[in-house]
Amino acid sequence: MAKYELVVALVLSLSLFRLTSAGDPDILTDFVAPNGTNVDGNFFTYTGMRSLVGFNSPTTVTVTKASLKEFPALDGQSVSFAVLEFPAGSVNPPHTHPRGSELLFLIYGSLEVGFVDTTNKLFTQTLQTGDMFIFPKGLVHYQYNFNQTDFAVAVSAFGSASAGTVSVPVTVFGTNIDDGILAKSFNTNVSTIEALKAGLTPPPTKA
Ligand SMILES: *[C@@H]1O[C@H](CO)[C@@H](O)[C@H](O)[C@H]1NC(C)=O
Ligand SMILES: *[C@@H]1O[C@H](CO)[C@@H](O)[C@H](O)[C@H]1NC(C)=O
Ligand SMILES: *[C@@H]1O[C@H](CO)[C@@H](O)[C@H](O)[C@H]1NC(C)=O
Repeated sequence: MAKYELVVALVLSLSLFRLTSAGDPDILTDFVAPNGTNVDGNFFTYTGMRSLVGFNSPTTVTVTKASLKEFPALDGQSVSFAVLEFPAGSVNPPHTHPRGSELLFLIYGSLEVGFVDTTNKLFTQTLQTGDMFIFPKGLVHYQYNFNQTDFAVAVSAFGSASAGTVSVPVTVFGTNIDDGILAKSFNTNVSTIEALKAGLTPPPTKA
């Protein structure tokens, strides 16, 4: 009986831990002010997105972030935003956000989106303006604006003040991992790896 209760208590406390660790680590204050100084409303205000009001159509995939780095008041609050702009026919290549899930809200245009789960199952969807899509935390995903004449704009919310971004092409081909190791990993030759590396924008510097 005592043993059983212990197991129940353990399971309960573990599930409680899972709940409380779903976002960023909890802070023990209302907010984190720089140097513990007095702050006013300005500290809790981010104006960096004003530049997007009345914007022109983008020429490259552009991600404008309001995360911990740009907006320090987010420290400990487990939320951040990004505005994503896609020129006609452009792709945001496969990437992950290791510390946060992403809730994408498509506010203009259309997008094809997809993610791959840890069993290598691919989930895709074609979104129209007004649709939302959730990319689960840490999973590889992409967005593609298949419309060849019109741009698309999405607003993404993240379940972390600093979700982080790991680009698959850049991580694999843009970080000077040895060509021979990559050739073996992809079961190909060094010239194919070099061609893939050269195709990255910007191309990686030679080690
Ligand atoms: C912390 O305090 C120092 C010295 O008063 C100041 O120079 C610095 O800007 C402060 N840091 C922040 C993030 O406000
Ligand atoms: C996308 O492309 C088609 C033409 O192929 C066009 O009719 C449509 O209005 C475009 N824009 C959006 C936002 O879907
Ligand atoms: C490398 O592999 C590609 C694709 O299989 C092939 O076309 C090419 O000839 C190979 N290059 C060398 C140097 O073996």
